Amino acid sequence: MEKVSLITGCSSGIGFETAITLGREGYFTYATMRDMTKAGKLEKIVNDEDLPIKVLELNVDDEDSVDKAITKILEEKGRIDTLVNNAGWGMWGTVEDVSIEEFKQQFETNFFSIIRIIQKVSPIMRKQKSGNIVNVSSVAGRIGFPVSPAYISSKFALEGLSECLRFELGQFGINVIIIEPGVIKTNFFDSMKMAKKSNSNSVYNEITSKVVSGVKMMAEMGTDPKEVANIIIKSINEQNPLPRYIVGNDAMMFLEAKKMKTDIEFENYIKKELYGE
Ligand SMILES: NC(=O)c1ccc[n+]([C@@H]2O[C@H](COP(=O)([O-])OP(=O)(O)OC[C@H]3O[C@@H](n4cnc5c(N)ncnc54)[C@H](OP(=O)(O)O)[C@@H]3O)[C@@H](O)[C@H]2O)c1
Repeated sequence: MEKVSLITGCSSGIGFETAITLGREGYFTYATMRDMTKAGKLEKIVNDEDLPIKVLELNVDDEDSVDKAITKILEEKGRIDTLVNNAGWGMWGTVEDVSIEEFKQQFETNFFSIIRIIQKVSPIMRKQKSGNIVNVSSVAGRIGFPVSPAYISSKFALEGLSECLRFELGQFGINVIIIEPGVIKTNFFDSMKMAKKSNSNSVYNEITSKVVSGVKMMAEMGTDPKEVANIIIKSINEQNPLPRYIVGNDAMMFLEAKKMKTDIEFENYIKKELYGE
C-alpha cells in the first residue's frame, strides 16, 4: 500500500530535505509550507525527478489552514502514515527581555501548533492502527542556556509532550519519535527574531551579544540538514523506532557531557563552550 506522509515547514532547511528524501524513497509526501511563493525550488526538483511529492499550503498557527490541508489529504489519499512536525522558529532574548506576548508567539508555532496537528492526525492513525509521529525537537530541548529561553522552553515542552504521547498512542500501534538535532546549517539562525526589549538599553546587552555571536559561529560549522532527513527516514523505516534520535557531533557531545557531569560542572562547561567564560 502507498505510504503517505505529511511534513510541516518544507520551504527550506530540514523540512525541505526531509520532503525530498521521503519522496525519493517512494513515500507520497505532502510537503507543506505557509508561504506558497517559496515553493519554486522544491517544485523544480519534484518535476525534474518526477517525485511523488505534492506541495500544499499549511500555516501551523492557523486552525483553518491545518483543517483544509488535512481534509485535502484525506480526500485524495484517505490516510496519513507519517507526520513530521518540523515547522518552527527561534527567538533571542532573556527571560526579562522577552514579553509574555512574545513567549506566547514562540509557543504558538513550536508547541501548541504541534498539539493542534496531532489532535487531528492521531484519530486517523488510530483507525489505521499504525503511524509515525516525528517531532523535530532539538538538543535545546534537553539543555538550557542563556538568551533563548522562549525557544528552549518550547522545545523542553515538546520533549515532555512527546514522552507522554508515546504511552498514549503506543497502545494503538502509533510510534512517537523525537529528533534532536544539534546546530544545523539552515535558514534557522538568520530567521531568528530578537525580542523587542533586547536592545542596547537592556541590562542583558552584553551576554546577549556574546551568546548570539557564539551560536552564530557554531552555525557556520553546522551539520547538513540532509543528515537530519536521513535520520528521520531511518527512524520511520525501523520496525521498532527508538524514542529519540540525536543528529550531529555537537549534539552528541553536549548530551554526553550533560550525562557525565554534575549540574554545576555542566553549567561551567556550557559557559565555556558557548561564550568563552
Ligand atoms: N537549524 C538548527 O540548528 C536546528 C537545530 C535543532 C532543531 N531545529 C528545528 O528544526 C526545525 C526546522 O528548522 P530549520 O533548521 O530547517 O530552519 P528553517 O530553514 O528556518 O525552516 C523552518 C521552517 O519552518 C517554517 N515555519 C515557521 N513558522 C511556520 C508556521 N507558522 N507555519 C508553517 N511553517 C512555518 C518556515 O517557513 P517560512 O519559510 O515561511 O518561514 C520554514 O519552512 C525547527 O523546528 C527548528 O526548531 C533546527
